[in-house]
Parts: sequence; C-alpha cells; structure tokens
Amino acid sequence: MSGALEGRVALVTGAGAGIGAGIARKFADEGARVVVAEFDAAAGTSVADEIGGLFVATDVSNREQVENAVAAAVSEYGSIDVLVNNAWGGGSIGRVENKTDDELAHGLAVGYYGPFWAMRKAFGHMKDRGWGRVINMCSLNGVNAHIGSLEYNAAKEALRTLTRTAAREWAPTGVTVNAICPAAKSQAFLAVAAQHPEIAEIADAANPMGRMGDPYDDIAPVAVFLASEGSRYLTGNTLFADGGSHINGVAWAPDLGD
Ligand SMILES: NC(=O)c1ccc[n+]([C@@H]2O[C@H](COP(=O)([O-])OP(=O)(O)OC[C@H]3O[C@@H](n4cnc5c(N)ncnc54)[C@H](O)[C@@H]3O)[C@@H](O)[C@H]2O)c1
Repeated sequence: MSGALEGRVALVTGAGAGIGAGIARKFADEGARVVVAEFDAAAGTSVADEIGGLFVATDVSNREQVENAVAAAVSEYGSIDVLVNNAWGGGSIGRVENKTDDELAHGLAVGYYGPFWAMRKAFGHMKDRGWGRVINMCSLNGVNAHIGSLEYNAAKEALRTLTRTAAREWAPTGVTVNAICPAAKSQAFLAVAAQHPEIAEIADAANPMGRMGDPYDDIAPVAVFLASEGSRYLTGNTLFADGGSHINGVAWAPDLGD
C-alpha cells in the first residue's frame, strides 16, 4: 500500500524531538524521504537513523546552515517537495520592558529568519517542479498575544504574515504555504511535566478535549494532509491542531513580577 507522501522529499527543521520528530516519523511512514535538519546532533541522528532519513546539522538561526540543509535535500534525494519550518528553542519569560535586544534578535533569527531563508532557498526548486508544500509551525501564543513571551509571539506572528504573503505570491506556481498552530506534549513539555505534574494536569484540563495532543498521532496527520495532494486548493491558512483551545482563547497569564 502506498502512503500519501510516496516519492516526496521533505525537510523538517527541529526534527530531533517533539512535534518535529513526530512529523518526521509520520512523513517517513507515509513514504517520504526525510531530511532531519536539527542542531542537536545526537537527537537528530537518532531520529534520522530510525526512519532511514538524512541528518543535516543545522542551526536555523544561521543562514548558511539553513541553505546548506535545503541544498543537501536536493543533492542527496534529488528535490525538496515539502518544507516544514518547525524548530524553536531559547526564549525567556519576562515583561516587555525588560526584554533585551539580544533576546528579540534570537527570537526573530530562529522563528522568522530561519524559516524565511529555508523558504527562499526551497522555492526555486519547488517552482521548477510546479509543486511544493511549505508548512510553518506557528503558535496560539502569538495569535492571542500571551504575556511574557514577546520575542516568541513576534517571531511567530511575523511567520504567519510571511506564510500569507508567500501563499498569495506563489499561488500560481503550485506551491502552497500554510501554518499550523499546535498544542502537544512535546519533549520540552514532558520534561516540565515530569518535574511538575500539576502543570500537565492544568494544561490537560484547560484543553476543550481534556488533553494536550500527541506529536505523532494528533499533529503529524495534519502536516501530512497539508503536505499531500489533497490540500492542493488550500493556501495561506492557519490550522489550529489544538483540541479546540483557540476557540475561547485558552488564557495563559502567570504572575510575571516586575
Ligand atoms: N508543543 C506545543 O504545544 C506548541 C505550541 C505552539 C507552538 N509550538 C511550535 O511547534 C514547534 C515545535 O515545538 P515543540 O514543542 O515540539 O518543541 P521541542 O522543544 O520539543 O522541540 C524543538 C526541536 O527544535 C530543535 N531546535 C531548537 N533550536 C533550534 C535551532 N536553532 N536550529 C535547529 N533546531 C533547533 C530542538 O533541539 C528540538 O529538537 C515550535 O515551532 C513551537 O513553537 C508548539
């Protein structure tokens, strides 16, 4: 039986853990050849070995490394059909007036410039083939402007604007660009939950479906749909894969102090 992504080449950033790893595994199960572009070499190699994919050491805040990862997909597998901009790391919790230039620059480099560089590099190949799928992982944090995470919110909402602008400009070329705002028990979430089980309980209870999602079973199938032929008439959208959390805007408002 052939999968939904048979014959496709996909590059997933930050695929060494969490949602990115779930997407990489599901894409491979659906027949894609997957490039794991990740800056944690041990995690990235482990996922790539497991799914028979290619690990490319990539810090998405470094333009040369991002462009190299796209080039590696093309040289190793012959094309890049699907790009998933998923990597995120760093960031801090604090008030707007206390944020530093470095924190803002880091957030924008990882969350906005990295995806932009990858899209710019991949587009030429996708356009030549008349087919491409870009999936950008964004966040309800940005949509609802949750407090404390300015650099994250700003980068993620800039990425949604990039998503819609590119979707509009590239619509005639066969390349679609969409965003997913997920809610899932990722690696980072599980690490916190292991130390503070009450946080996991609160997150589950606040979700309309009563649980945070699973990267492989709940988020990755949405990415497979966006990467597949069935989504060809859908571009510039944000899909909330979050058990309904966005409907009433789950509020996250800790006491930030001064
Ligand atoms: N988990 C959620 O509920 C949730 C909610 C909203 C948005 N998101 C978004 O989904 C995406 C995945 O989140 P997650 O929860 O799975 O995160 P995670 O922390 O579990 O995994 C992130 C992965 O990205 C890698 N990474 C970090 N910085 C990198 C860099 N500079 N270059 C390359 N790789 C890097 C990490 O090593 C890790 O493997 C992120 O874009 C995040 O903002 C997640």
